[in-house]
Amino acid sequence: MGDAPLLEVERLTTVFDVGGRALPAVDQVSFTVGAGETLGLVGESGSGKSVTALSILRLVQPPGRIASGRIRFRGRDLVALREREMRALRGADISLVFQEPMTALNPVFTIGSQLEETLAVHGRATGHAARRQAVDLLGAVRMPDPARRLDEYPHQLSGGLRQRALIAMALACRPALVIADEPTTALDVTVQAEILDLLREMKARFGLSLLLITHDLGVIAETADRVAVMYAGRLVEQAPVRALFHDPKHPYTRALLASVPDDRPGTPLRAIRGAVPSLGALPPGCAFAPRCPDRFEPCDRLPPGETRVGEGRAVRCYLHGDAVEPAAAVPGAR
Ligand SMILES: Nc1ncnc2c1ncn2[C@@H]1O[C@H](COP(=O)(O)OP(=O)(O)OP(=O)(O)O)[C@@H](O)[C@H]1O
Ligand code: SF4
Ligand SMILES: [Mg+2]
Repeated sequence: MGDAPLLEVERLTTVFDVGGRALPAVDQVSFTVGAGETLGLVGESGSGKSVTALSILRLVQPPGRIASGRIRFRGRDLVALREREMRALRGADISLVFQEPMTALNPVFTIGSQLEETLAVHGRATGHAARRQAVDLLGAVRMPDPARRLDEYPHQLSGGLRQRALIAMALACRPALVIADEPTTALDVTVQAEILDLLREMKARFGLSLLLITHDLGVIAETADRVAVMYAGRLVEQAPVRALFHDPKHPYTRALLASVPDDRPGTPLRAIRGAVPSLGALPPGCAFAPRCPDRFEPCDRLPPGETRVGEGRAVRCYLHGDAVEPAAAVPGAR
């Protein structure tokens, strides 16, 4: 594949069919994740981060559906794969770490049996070999006393240890890409820092790529190589992490940065004035216009398109160019 990125998401649109309309939770979103790279995906609640993650794994449930776009992973279009091929890929090549490990772990099975099952399902190991690998994996995620923990049930572990177990499961088949959706939000601050350290360590050790979803800009600052900022289903800005923090271009990114008291992980956001528009009532122009301090005359007409603003940087805002977003990919959406 030469230098093609590991993951290429191209004009992905995922809608929810509600009340006879197709509401675009993810609207013509494009980004890439390179080998060994961490892309941070950031945005307020409801902006479409989790739906993006679920779309990549083709786990969006009805009334949601991928309406258009391409998701190339190692050159193969995941949108076009058969469900059987997709199942083989999930957990093995791309795995997901959730916010709440209790819902991702099965309460009636021990940690060990769940790890061994993952290894068996993907044909990696069975029997004694699987058990040995499970101990090694728990050791790798720095679970204290891994051999004993193997026989424990999820409820016997603390939140932090459950998240370690879940990361061990995500890594079991040595995936190339891990999607971590708010992996530390449910944990207290010191444990958050430990889990982030662990993710960084695992990334280096296993040569992973990471799509890290969070609304915590401190986490982004410490972990991501590049950042994509999402608002109302659209990517409004993409930039290398330092460039984004030093010179944010989009008024929404600026508002987000100004809403962080400081950039340490775990610091809650101060609210940005106004609310994210609901998908059923998106403004006709820029979705951020009702809250934007810089709004001017073209902003209310049509959604702005993407303008390149430097090396690896792009922004959707009329302050930076007059590109207009092509018409909605799905009739009835917008
Ligand atoms: N089952 C559903 N039916 C209808 N709309 C849905 C459904 N699931 C999600 N949505 C809509 O999709 C949009 C994006 O939701 P998503 O969960 O991706 O947001 P998010 O950025 O992950 O937010 P958070 O930070 O709270 O996790 C929201 O506006 C939500 O209302
Ligand atoms: S396009 Fe206009 S309303 Fe939207 S962010 Fe830019 S200046 Fe603000
Ligand atoms: Mg979410």
